[in-house]
Amino acid sequence: MKLTYRPDAPKKEPLGCLVCFALEDRVKPPAAAPAEWRDLIAKTAKLKDFTGKAGQTLTLIPRSGTAQRILLVGLGERAELDREKLRRAAGHAGKALAGMNIRQAGVWMPAGLPRGLASGETVAEGLVLGAYTFKAYKDPPKKNAPAELRQTILFDPDRITTRDSVARGLVRGEAVCIARSLGNHPGNVMTPTRLADEARSIAKRRGLRCTVMDRARMESLGMGLLLGVTRGSREPPKLIVMEYRPRGAKGTLAFVGKGITFDSGGISLKPGAAMDEMKFDMCGAAAVLGAMDAIGQLKPKVNVIGIVPACENLPGGEATKPGDILKSFTGKHVEILNTDAEGRLVLADALAYGIKQYKPDAVVDLATLTGACVVALGHYATGAISNDEAFEKKVVAAGKASGDIVWPLPNFPEYAEGLKGKYADLQNIAGRDGGTITGGLFLKNFVGDVPWVHLDIAGTAWGVKGVGHIPYEGASGVGVCLLTDLAESWN
Ligand code: BES
Ligand code: MN
Ligand code: ZN
Repeated sequence: MKLTYRPDAPKKEPLGCLVCFALEDRVKPPAAAPAEWRDLIAKTAKLKDFTGKAGQTLTLIPRSGTAQRILLVGLGERAELDREKLRRAAGHAGKALAGMNIRQAGVWMPAGLPRGLASGETVAEGLVLGAYTFKAYKDPPKKNAPAELRQTILFDPDRITTRDSVARGLVRGEAVCIARSLGNHPGNVMTPTRLADEARSIAKRRGLRCTVMDRARMESLGMGLLLGVTRGSREPPKLIVMEYRPRGAKGTLAFVGKGITFDSGGISLKPGAAMDEMKFDMCGAAAVLGAMDAIGQLKPKVNVIGIVPACENLPGGEATKPGDILKSFTGKHVEILNTDAEGRLVLADALAYGIKQYKPDAVVDLATLTGACVVALGHYATGAISNDEAFEKKVVAAGKASGDIVWPLPNFPEYAEGLKGKYADLQNIAGRDGGTITGGLFLKNFVGDVPWVHLDIAGTAWGVKGVGHIPYEGASGVGVCLLTDLAESWN
């Protein structure tokens, strides 16, 4: 969505639709609106069909004037309004606008909001996120097709926000959309090679350093776990490293994202039903790339290293077999009892390498790691495992601020018992029970003492329903805003 900020009221410009937000039971027209719109909204308010409840929308057709439609969007009760509710309401507006037969829209900044909502940023972010669609593989619109929204003007005559705040929201929203599209492309397109190309182009646009390791380099470094996962595939594996290093930086953060561009399960083949969804198994990687895009523009004063181990998990003739023992980058041996528990393997090598090479002060990894996490937490909260309570609290707080909700899970050593190997130091699975926890605790063996949080986004990366700014189908872009907020709040 192309969004332009204007610190004034709509004048002569033709608008296919003008969005007006309303707090619950306080439906009233914007103060600076022309008489005709004021009348129409005031009359509507009396009918009480639209009361401003969260998620409620109503389209009005004015008799005359420059707007063909007025879209009322409910914000819910003022006392309960927080950033996420405002983001969702703007998301509903964005979604509605993107579905209309219009070229240009207006959005009136909501008045009378409580403080502390960063309203310009939040509204801009929600609008961009709500309007997102993925049509890369659909025929381009034909002659008599509905018009496409080209431009949205954010009107702010009461100076409720600033141009800067809106610009920040745009950066964040667009970074999330980048992550969504990376996730939505199918496995035959979004290969490890293509993912590396996308990382390079983000790095080039934002002035970051980007290096991509190939198989030979992984072999010389001894990344036996990553190499073991990629064996069954003909697509070359990549280890992508993006570096943001601002002048005057204090400290270093590392973000590591699982980049399995397709997960068939390997020799421990998954059942056929919904296997297509395993093209989303690189959504952790997508979150890291999206966050690097935002961070490169918002310029927090901390070094940020983005690391993505990318490969396919396929059952080719050379594939790793159950019972095989692999030697990790750290030297620990892992017995592979299920080749479908591959995410933890590529992450283990990437985490250990990233920590050794870049000596970060803290590390977050994001992965669509376990089906068990979908069962435990559904599609709304991301599961977390950590070795450091203080850092985990920071991640939870960044999650709350960004709307990427994080729920800590217990890390008791009893859970890790089942990961002890019979024939090797470790085995890659520990049975079905507590699967999200044991998956996270497997990684703990490879991070040493560095404060670390593992985020299992298996439930939150796609399949999210009923949230205003998240599309009903496909990737959600979860994690981008959390990582960006974490970097911005680091010092
Ligand atoms: N990518 C999957 C996890 C997944 C499954 C995410 C379903 C979203 C929906 C991961 O690689 C995997 O296959 N995990 C196994 C682990 C098991 C073998 C211990 C799982 O969850 O079944
Ligand atoms: Mn798997
Ligand atoms: Zn996987």
